[in-house]
Amino acid sequence: MIFTILTLFPGIFESPLNESLIKKAREKGLLEFNIVNIRDFAADTHRTCDDAPFGGGAGMVMKVEPVRYAMTHVRNEIPEERFVLLTPDGKRFDQESAARFARFPHLALLCGRYEGVDERIRALVDEEVSIGDYILSGGETAALVVVDAVSRLVPGVLGNEASPVDESFAQGLLEYPQYTRPRAFMGMEAPEALLSGNHEEIRKWRRKESIKRTILRRPDLMERFQPTREDEIMMREAMEELE
Ligand code: 6GU
Repeated sequence: MIFTILTLFPGIFESPLNESLIKKAREKGLLEFNIVNIRDFAADTHRTCDDAPFGGGAGMVMKVEPVRYAMTHVRNEIPEERFVLLTPDGKRFDQESAARFARFPHLALLCGRYEGVDERIRALVDEEVSIGDYILSGGETAALVVVDAVSRLVPGVLGNEASPVDESFAQGLLEYPQYTRPRAFMGMEAPEALLSGNHEEIRKWRRKESIKRTILRRPDLMERFQPTREDEIMMREAMEELE
């Protein structure tokens, strides 16, 4: 999968895309990154990319022409792109969006600046996303969040192909608690069920703990959860154990 990132601050992407999982996936040829400096597409000698808002007011507005030229360049170099604008007033990015983005062969992320972009930029993109209800100084850190969430869904990026479906949100539940050695730490014992070696007992314990944790921490997620018969029984037991 190819990611193109259009930004006024290309330096932000230097280290995050050269570490850990993404670094390994790049080395394997599974992911490719193309960082485009929008400033290289500004037409004037000062390479201006922002300007004062019409009608007055504080802050600067990202200009439409350099963005348009940068997008045309991207389109000519790598076809089949999907253009996404990162902006605090976009549609909320979630695990479902990540799964949908992972199916595009080329995702182009346009980083807006926080004061705002010329409204006409919105007409140039396929969609607009936000990563949550808080203000970031620019779309760059949001683009990194999108790249991280999407990358791990690209086949082969995670060593173990089975793991993404097993995770939080993919099933509509939070993850179950995990433990490793030592068995006892400061009087806190690892649960007996996990030490039993009985796979069925372990599976059931984990499922019920996922349900408990979701009820306690994210009751909003329970509304969309579609329980199996076994889950329904576990939900009843979980409620009793939580009382
Ligand atoms: Cl995509 N951009 C900015 N500037 N702030 C945000 C955001 C994006 N998502 C949440 N806050």
